[in-house]
Amino acid sequence: MKKYLVVGNPIEHSLSPKLHNYWIKQNNINAIYEKKQIVEANIKKIFSEIKNGKVEGVNVTVPFKRSVIPFLDELEDLGKKTQSVNTIFKKKDKIVGDNTDVKGFQHALQHIKYNPSGKKILILGAGGVTSSIIYALKQLHVSKIMLTNRTIEKAENLKKIYPDLDLIKWGSTKNFDMIINATSLGLKENDRIPVNYDQFGPKKFFYDVIYNPKKTNFLSEAEKHGNRIENGKIMFAYQAAFAFKIWSGIFPSVDEKVLELLENE
Ligand code: ATR
Repeated sequence: MKKYLVVGNPIEHSLSPKLHNYWIKQNNINAIYEKKQIVEANIKKIFSEIKNGKVEGVNVTVPFKRSVIPFLDELEDLGKKTQSVNTIFKKKDKIVGDNTDVKGFQHALQHIKYNPSGKKILILGAGGVTSSIIYALKQLHVSKIMLTNRTIEKAENLKKIYPDLDLIKWGSTKNFDMIINATSLGLKENDRIPVNYDQFGPKKFFYDVIYNPKKTNFLSEAEKHGNRIENGKIMFAYQAAFAFKIWSGIFPSVDEKVLELLENE
């Protein structure tokens, strides 16, 4: 039986096992997908388990999407461009890293029929997923990307990869068509994002990468002010689907049933 893993820290709330095990069963694959909390020092061991065939494939989540890169034998194009890896697999004897967050985000926008072409986008947060979102949006020809992060150095590091980013001071905002919360603020009930909801909207698009809780304070305030809202559930499902495709060759179903699986927590 093949074994797959998602590694991160924290990991206990990850819904990846639920989703992948559903698709494994649906496609009659003899495999199991588990989650494992690790620290940086464990990465090497995970890689030796991939090398010796104990583990077939790995998903990587916060905070290791960048730190796994030096351990890879090969890095696929999107992983290189975003410096972020969420899917690891073996090609012959080589351990290869890839990024499915970019396509995950693009397909989520397509699924909900939002075309960001020509739009002004404001991204909050410069953590693990932000470079994938920026890359995805640039490919979709947005007119401008503004970025704000509490720790300015992290935003400046992203500007080195994407020189045309507009950096904005944390806590101040500029006019946008779409605003994306890519911080971890909202995971806890009392988290508040410093956005003045009266200043913008109505009819802007508020997107939160967080999907658990389903409606963060950011989304519920935005909704109250007459804006369109969407959480990160569909993006999560598509990044998983593209990882599943890399490992099995099968693109699994992303339908109402699958999205419902991610609700019942
Ligand atoms: P990592 O930074 O390790 O990649 P992440 O969960 O991907 O982890 O990213 C966390 C993001 O949420 C960062 O943008 C972080 O801002 P800092 O770079 O300043 O740490 C942001 N974040 C987390 N807690 C925050 C808080 N209380 N206020 C503002 N931003 C916060």
